[in-house]
Amino acid sequence: MTGQQRLELCQQMTLEEKLGMIHGNELFRTKGVERLHIPPFSFSDGPMGVRQEYQATKWIPVGSSQDYTSYLPCNTALAATWNRRLAYESGKVLGREARGRGKDMILAPGINILRTPLCGRNFEYMGEDPFLVSEMVVPMIEGIEENDVASCVKHFAVNNQEVRRLSENSVVDDRALREIYFPGFRAAVTRAKAKGIMGSYNKLWGIHCSQNKKLLQDILRGEWGFEGLVVSDWGGVHDTAEAADSGLDVEMSVTDNFDEYYLANPLAEEIRAGRISEKLIDEKVIHILKVMDDLHMFDGERKSGCYGLPEDRQKLLAAARESVVLLKNSKNLLPIERRNGLKLLVVGDNANKFHAPGGGSSEIKALYEMTPLMGIGMIAGGNVEVTYCKGYDSFTTGNIWDAEHADARAAREAQEKQSGVSANETAEVSENGQAISLNENPEDEVTAQVLTEEQLAMNATYAEEAVAAAAEADVVIFVGGLNHEFDTEGQDRRDMSLPYHQTELITRLQQANRNVVVVMMSGSPVDLTGILDTTHTLVQYWYSGMEGGRALAEVLFGDVCPSGRLPETFPLKVEDCSAHSIGEYPGKEAVHYSEGIYVGYRHYETRKIPVAYPFGYGLSYTDFKYNHFRVDDRSTEEHASFSVNLEVTNIGEMDGAETVQLYVRPINSSIDRPLRELRQFEKEFIKIGQTHRISFHLNEQAFSYYDTTAASFRAPAGTYLIEICRDAHTVIMDQKVTLRKDYLFV
Ligand code: BGC
Repeated sequence: MTGQQRLELCQQMTLEEKLGMIHGNELFRTKGVERLHIPPFSFSDGPMGVRQEYQATKWIPVGSSQDYTSYLPCNTALAATWNRRLAYESGKVLGREARGRGKDMILAPGINILRTPLCGRNFEYMGEDPFLVSEMVVPMIEGIEENDVASCVKHFAVNNQEVRRLSENSVVDDRALREIYFPGFRAAVTRAKAKGIMGSYNKLWGIHCSQNKKLLQDILRGEWGFEGLVVSDWGGVHDTAEAADSGLDVEMSVTDNFDEYYLANPLAEEIRAGRISEKLIDEKVIHILKVMDDLHMFDGERKSGCYGLPEDRQKLLAAARESVVLLKNSKNLLPIERRNGLKLLVVGDNANKFHAPGGGSSEIKALYEMTPLMGIGMIAGGNVEVTYCKGYDSFTTGNIWDAEHADARAAREAQEKQSGVSANETAEVSENGQAISLNENPEDEVTAQVLTEEQLAMNATYAEEAVAAAAEADVVIFVGGLNHEFDTEGQDRRDMSLPYHQTELITRLQQANRNVVVVMMSGSPVDLTGILDTTHTLVQYWYSGMEGGRALAEVLFGDVCPSGRLPETFPLKVEDCSAHSIGEYPGKEAVHYSEGIYVGYRHYETRKIPVAYPFGYGLSYTDFKYNHFRVDDRSTEEHASFSVNLEVTNIGEMDGAETVQLYVRPINSSIDRPLRELRQFEKEFIKIGQTHRISFHLNEQAFSYYDTTAASFRAPAGTYLIEICRDAHTVIMDQKVTLRKDYLFV
């Protein structure tokens, strides 16, 4: 369809028909125009797979057996693979399943930057570094959209906490926006040509992002050339005139009074009264028609999808394997040898818990979920004796086959969604049912699961049993960490502590047995200080999808050589995090991002703040040697151009993958800049004894910062170190280069 044809199609519609296309007519669907053969447009969550089917007008699951789907590793797990191909493959599975379930737009991927470890939705995002996020999100979108399904990159923008997420105003300077918070979205638009963007709930420049003209029109469409569809977050619109004129295309919300949505009857009235031009509506309709056309919704050429295919699970397994991060192995306890008669004790709630149904809108009705205990049992082999002790119980739901809990969960969600706020928030509800204000007290928007006396007593017994069993075992694998009571939408964590007295339990297990492997499962860092010194074997594991437990077990037994790297810094304590250290989290009505660009390792490295584990960190069972590092300057008047070459040899005793990280560090810069910034990386699978050549190309972007006066990126002339690093803290080799002139670009 040409632009002219789309315009003509739009001109044939009545105002009511156009309005039907630009707001929800069901919770996850707009209205089509039957007489013109325009179908409704349907959305579905979310980032970890295609969400279960909800009733058209109520937040109550349909309860069908046809919506069990594949459960993908969460975005943090994907980012931890540092493997662009796996992001692409996972995206492909997600897109294919969305299409298979009859969806037009999948509300994924989520890419907000990890500004604080406490944000409840960090697990849905890709960590703290804009370059890593950009490199991973682009292939993921490409994978999704190959299936004639639109992605929806969310939440645009600066939605970095759940506390007061519906109302807070993120006050961020232009430099931080351009260097830290925008690049992932910009890459999604300019490189991956994403077809969808979701405006976030919060405000930027004092205006809600879902109806923010400067953000959605001037920057997204004007500067970046976005040609897709902007959808509001569910309930993110608050004003008819502002939304109509903002570059937003579709208003979605959480209530069932669809005709009263801001872009429904209230908009019709404004247009009829001549206060809003119908042209604005036409633009939206044309954007929607273009996306529909690109998805082949009119020409009968649309690809078909499917879901739950066994071969797709293999792809998710591959991603889950590479997401496992080995943090410590100082006794070489890992990999565990499956010797005859080995007594293996598995301890911890997370070893035996299903996580797929939790987390909020990223919940998944998984076809199955392989827990760590299942994975370990499955591949330990009959000669190894595997026993399990709870050690502690989180007393949370999580069993998808548990009808009683499933009902309770559904009821809670229904209540949350219907009021437009999470269960712990109190909202005043306006006449049309929209949440208009939030609890004054942010304390109520943080997670603090309180166990009853009885539950505490039960946990004391579970701990006793586990410690006694540990004394009899050869090896203990403890699987703890968080769960979706903590890593969840609508709430942040109160602090970084390990819940359920795990620190104490781990310490006791270590006293009872010298061979304790500690596996932490979470979407964000937890406070490890109580166990860092006593723990010789530590693994970070995430919500790694339906095959996660098997992937973890394969790493523990050495069938797979670990190769995950942290996509975020693990600080020692939350006060060390920049936003917290300056008292700007959680903020009040306004959240001042006064730390500017000093987010994550940019803060820890520049200010020399010790951390538990730096960004980019991760160990292997094998060793790699770096050699023949060489940088050649081929810069011209127009562009900086450096080619970087090096060789990496696997000098260990196991085939494995290495992630080569390249950072650029300005020397004697007159401009305030982070110590170093990630500018390239490459993951290579290298067999024992083999050498691979790694080549990078750097242009002016690699040296640039955002110059607010020039409103452009600037790579200033000067001296820089090109650093090849093991992680954001550890330099392996470096070379000095000189940029002979300034380069300015947008
Ligand atoms: C979330 C979005 C989600 C939407 C639809 C909102 O509450 O913030 O991420 O896609 O609900 O469920």
